[in-house]
Amino acid sequence: MPCGDILGEKPGGKRSKMNIAVLVSGGGTNLQAIMDANRNNQLGNVCISIVISSKPDAYAIKRAEIENIPVLVLSKKEISDPREYDRRMLSALDRAQTDIVVLAGFLSLLGPDVVSRYENRIINIHPSLIPAFCGPGMYGIRPHQAAIDRGVKVSGATVHFVNRNYDDGPIILQKAVCVFNEDTPESLQLRVMTECEQVILPKAIRLIAENRVIVENNKVILLAEEDAAGKERL
Ligand code: GAR
Repeated sequence: MPCGDILGEKPGGKRSKMNIAVLVSGGGTNLQAIMDANRNNQLGNVCISIVISSKPDAYAIKRAEIENIPVLVLSKKEISDPREYDRRMLSALDRAQTDIVVLAGFLSLLGPDVVSRYENRIINIHPSLIPAFCGPGMYGIRPHQAAIDRGVKVSGATVHFVNRNYDDGPIILQKAVCVFNEDTPESLQLRVMTECEQVILPKAIRLIAENRVIVENNKVILLAEEDAAGKERL
């Protein structure tokens, strides 16, 4: 869905769309899945108001520019003071009137000020079935290498809320794929990205936009909706 007047206010003071800020560091396949889903009206009333990259050469930036989405580079290398990084991140998120922050391959830990300001409003996609193969150092190809090394028979991806620890917040959605004898970390990574990540990340955004995600006692409860035949579905 195009952004149009996203930063405009509806009469009565409520914005008509949920603004999401997508944070990236790499290739941006998850960002692409979000943008595609939004273009096809699969996210509900959502606008991607800004893409923020921690790396100036991330291919995700090109993907955002093609879709005319405002991009900001907050380089971790250039802004080495974590508190300053946090301050600039907060100010960018606030300027974009962010409702939800989506970490789509953003490979830095957000600072405490950002996490507390956006409590239960930051989601992350992780390429394993948490609590397996997650935590510090487990990013990119590493969870897949670890899954192959351990000989697990299923792996997958997880969307979860972000708290102050790596990959630790309440789990929103998970999706699994089989791990085959002939899999390499690269083949498993590709299957997890296409069959899991790119499915559950847009879906989680839609569920949040539809107010169907509730956090209670550090767990997520998903509210079903009724289809036309009165059957409940997620
Ligand atoms: C994705 O596989 C994502 O799950 C992973 O980085 C990749 C980014 O790809 N994230 C993590 O490992 C976070 N712990 P993308 O830039 O093509 O979306």
